[in-house]
Amino acid sequence: MSAHLEIRRSDRPRRTRGAEHLFDGPARHEWSLRFLSAPGHLMLLAYVEGVPAGFITGIEDAPPDKGSEMCLYETGRGRAVPQTGIARELVSTLAAIARDRGCYDIVGPVDADNNPGAAFYRATGARADGALSRC
Ligand SMILES: CC(C)(COP(=O)(O)OP(=O)(O)OC[C@H]1O[C@@H](n2cnc3c(N)ncnc32)[C@H](O)[C@@H]1OP(=O)(O)O)[C@@H](O)C(=O)NCCC(=O)NCCS
Repeated sequence: MSAHLEIRRSDRPRRTRGAEHLFDGPARHEWSLRFLSAPGHLMLLAYVEGVPAGFITGIEDAPPDKGSEMCLYETGRGRAVPQTGIARELVSTLAAIARDRGCYDIVGPVDADNNPGAAFYRATGARADGALSRC
């Protein structure tokens, strides 16, 4: 039987702090507060059996010549988690939110040397120009 996976929005620094083992470094309270309260910024956390196991950050932007778009800033999951499909579920949830907000697309950067990251984004439908084309 597969483990229970739940995606929740992090709307307060305490919740983000509880998932900081997933990030590149510790989550500082003032930085979390600034990120979570900034218009268009959102963080989703994936919980497996109630334990934070993955995250995704999105930043909604509206360039004057393009309209509303969602930038998928970063995603990752905990190394200790055996269950796969976590990051795909996070991307799908972010895409649904972007659609609800009227975004025309999701775009995302990936470091040039991050081949696994690029392969993951390709598997979720991303094009080479960084657009995920999910909206
Ligand atoms: C990349 C990462 C987010 C994938 O997380 P995950 O939960 O294992 O991914 P999923 O299980 O949801 O995989 C979704 C799809 O991507 C593919 N995929 C995942 N990791 C992959 C890898 N390392 N190489 C190739 N394909 C990969 C899976 O095969 C799957 O495709 P499928 O359903 O057609 O089989 C995770 O390995 C990670 O945290 N990496 C370090 C951070 C990073 O590179 N983030 C992305 C750039 S910000």
